[in-house]
Amino acid sequence: MDVEIVGRLLSTLPEEDDHPYRTGPWRPQTTEWKADDLEVVEGEIPHDLDGVYLRNTENPVHPSLKNYHPFDGDGMIHVVGFRDGTAFYRNRMIRTDGYLAEMESGQALWAGLAENPKLSLREDGWGARGRMKDASSTDVVVHRGMALTSFYQCGDMYRLDPYSAETRGKEDFNGAFPFKWGVSAHPKVDDRTGEMLFFNYSKEAPYMHYGVVDKQNDLVHYVDVPLPGARLPHDMAFTENYAILNDFPLFWDEEALKQGHHAARFHRDMPSRFGVIPRRGQTSDIRWFEAEATYVLHFVNAYEEGDEIVIDGFFQGDPEPKDNGQGTKWERAFRFLALDRMQARLHRWRLNLVTGKVREQQLSDTITEFGMMNGDFQTDDYRYAYAATGKPGWFLFDGLVRHDLKTGSEEKYSFGDGVFGSETAVAPKIGGTAEDDAYLVTIISDMGADASYCVVFDAARVSDGPVCKLKLPERVSSGTHSTWAAGEELRRWRQDDDAASAVGL
Ligand SMILES: [Fe+2]
Repeated sequence: MDVEIVGRLLSTLPEEDDHPYRTGPWRPQTTEWKADDLEVVEGEIPHDLDGVYLRNTENPVHPSLKNYHPFDGDGMIHVVGFRDGTAFYRNRMIRTDGYLAEMESGQALWAGLAENPKLSLREDGWGARGRMKDASSTDVVVHRGMALTSFYQCGDMYRLDPYSAETRGKEDFNGAFPFKWGVSAHPKVDDRTGEMLFFNYSKEAPYMHYGVVDKQNDLVHYVDVPLPGARLPHDMAFTENYAILNDFPLFWDEEALKQGHHAARFHRDMPSRFGVIPRRGQTSDIRWFEAEATYVLHFVNAYEEGDEIVIDGFFQGDPEPKDNGQGTKWERAFRFLALDRMQARLHRWRLNLVTGKVREQQLSDTITEFGMMNGDFQTDDYRYAYAATGKPGWFLFDGLVRHDLKTGSEEKYSFGDGVFGSETAVAPKIGGTAEDDAYLVTIISDMGADASYCVVFDAARVSDGPVCKLKLPERVSSGTHSTWAAGEELRRWRQDDDAASAVGL
């Protein structure tokens, strides 16, 4: 392994920290690395694996003003790139406005998710709640050959080189970026059309917008999605012809909100609502479908079948888990992040466009979330969803599951005691045609070995374990989302960019 340190952060976090989401598997990093020719610890790097695995993590640098929530941590991007049987690793902090301001001050300036916004030292800020730091640490997608990071409560999107992980400024959609409301955590890239679909939300009417950015990076569509009040949507879905937005009955208590308190409550007596809009449709075209009360953090895929829109995602049996007195004070405080406490299970909704009715069914008894699928089969009637299992009581991934949606069978793999993974991305094999002609790529942190590894599975044989295990220069923190971008596509965009700059564009 050829390793170089390219940056060091001056962290002001306490040496004797007891916060479980800033220590152990969530210990933030203070070093930025550039490592080539990663050491192969087991197996060998497949020659038909070409592209980059990008993973975002919450990486706090300063103590919170009062109470740290893991979603407050500054974004750090990790890249593991593969080509011709070799692999490299890079990690860089995302140079957000908030991160740079706090580095200059040497302390936190904005109140986080578990704090009263009035604590913020700055009057300005981001997020649907307001007066938050846009940490850009939630998701990462690739659009037009550029990695874009996002913030869960709406904010800017930061542009990053997908190979070096260096920040290249903010995305501006050729001057039309909705900076007032921002973009929410999970924009959706449709690789077939080159479009990126997104929504945003706020405490102000109409409470939501839906937008489309085309492959020229122009914001070609942006419409109001009126909701009955302020909501907390996290994800959306899309099919070939429709975008599917949502209004789930987990939202800020309206009376408390009038007093300035942001307390999310599950309203069990209200339905879940899916808003279906033609991808370039107007506000008046939106049709709402009612389903059983729940909250969905993430969808896996959606497609059209006859008169129906089929949507797969993770139904929460208990979106507002009560403090049951079990576990440590930290497990009780962060029970909302534990997959077993939210009772997240793969679920299918069928929205009938003729009758307006919804049929829904649980697809698996197993508690999983953070589902991924082969992106080449997006918006198709697909077969496989790959998802994470969680360590009970904690926001930690302890294994992965391959759900076969046609047979209902499941293949499982456990990372082992004290080993935690990240969201697993699906990397189609070069020349692959079948849906499971693919690899699964993830980063694991082994607490016993005090080391992190990038592991690669054959998507068709998950329970056999990794076909390849690569050592990273340092143990990395747990985090939220990841993605895969094919090398061929990235190189094509790079050539286009080089050609454009050669003629002065
Ligand atoms: Fe998410």
